[in-house]
Amino acid sequence: MRISVIGSGYVGTTLAACFADLGHEVVNVDIDEEVVATINRGEPPIHEEGLPERVARHVTETGRLRATTDYDDVLETEATFVALPTPSRDDGSIDLSIMEAGTEQLGETLSTKEGWHTVVVKSTVVPGTTQDLIAPTVAAASGKALGEEIGVGMNPEFLREGTAVADFLEPDKVVLGADDDRTLADLRTVYEPLTERVDTAVVETGTREAEMMKYANNAFLAAKVSLINDLGNICKELGVDTYEVADAMGLDDRITRAFLDSGLGWGGSCFPKDVAAIVAAARDEGYEPPMLNAAVEVNDLMPARLLSLLDDHVDVDGKQVALLGLAFKPGTDDVRNTRSAALVRGLTDRGADVVAHDPAAVERMRASFPELDFAVADSPAEALDGAHACIVATAWPDYSALDDEFDAMAHPLVLDGRHCLEPRDGIVYEGLTW
Ligand code: UGA
Repeated sequence: MRISVIGSGYVGTTLAACFADLGHEVVNVDIDEEVVATINRGEPPIHEEGLPERVARHVTETGRLRATTDYDDVLETEATFVALPTPSRDDGSIDLSIMEAGTEQLGETLSTKEGWHTVVVKSTVVPGTTQDLIAPTVAAASGKALGEEIGVGMNPEFLREGTAVADFLEPDKVVLGADDDRTLADLRTVYEPLTERVDTAVVETGTREAEMMKYANNAFLAAKVSLINDLGNICKELGVDTYEVADAMGLDDRITRAFLDSGLGWGGSCFPKDVAAIVAAARDEGYEPPMLNAAVEVNDLMPARLLSLLDDHVDVDGKQVALLGLAFKPGTDDVRNTRSAALVRGLTDRGADVVAHDPAAVERMRASFPELDFAVADSPAEALDGAHACIVATAWPDYSALDDEFDAMAHPLVLDGRHCLEPRDGIVYEGLTW
């Protein structure tokens, strides 16, 4: 099939490269000339495992992938996936202005197209957005009749940062949301090369349900982590190791062990944003969701819990504290909603000199949180040298291997926020919930 993907961000680029992998001919449309030039050189504009070789192969060898700034190029395709950003507003709701402008431009472009065209919303949008906003916008701008000349579907993504390509190529499920048969048929055709190859569930549903499935998925996982952290805080108070408890809970196949890693909680661009957006959408309708509000409350509590453990041991006023890890999770340079920001704030409030280390995210941390006061070390050993406490905030594998490096600390207190270190002789080890 000939497919266009609008947006060359993290989702759009992954989608475009993976569609090309499935044998489709793909054109990736973006307004950013530099991003387009990068892709056309055969390089991905984002860092994601498995993407460099795929973009290179499909741009330079198979010729199935190219990028453009010209919306008119969608006219050569049969289906267009829209993967545009939906930034958060202050009240947690999502700002749809970029989606609206992009789909209006798409609609105007499609006004000259002969025959049917399928438009698919890929961005995470609250239920009703596709049916009530995007479909009417595309229809009005194109002058085409919905369900007769043009169809608008919804196909949520379940891609994790760091494993997005693998998640796309070996999904647990593929959700195809459509409100008419022809759009559904096109969605099936797009995914057929994948669903024929791998054993995955295909869920065919309406666009509103498809939109909600994405939010429900992320809200459930975020709440699962918050529940184990809530239990973990109880465990810590009662002298119980949460990880032993979680391992046993995970043996129950109604629960499973996934997303029971207790610690500093969830960050990133997805859980915080999606939970806030679905809570805001519920609030808009007059429902205040107690469970999801509690999930956020527990999550916000975790950095403060760790800092209070620190206070139990040492007054860090005027002293050096090593902060290991700035990225919101290992394997990425993403610092959006990273728990480390709250930790730096709390440490600075206590008068500490924060010396941070991260193998990938220092630059982004500086750019995203210019107000935070911290020095940067080139290695964990440098951060630890002379420190009165060490906080591990991101489970980078290198941190698990630290050993003699702790000997250079002025006071060997190690607070593990991610269960990634083993207690060892010569250090005072405190786990956040174990
Ligand atoms: C998440 C979902 O897992 C994807 O399915 C979804 O597509 C994506 O959001 C999205 O909406 O685009 P991601 O944010 O990349 O993916 O990261 P996860 O690996 O899910 O981790 C989220 C956060 O939860 C991280 O801060 C992680 O440290 C934390 N977490 C995760 C825990 O604290 N404990 C756990 O047991 C698991």
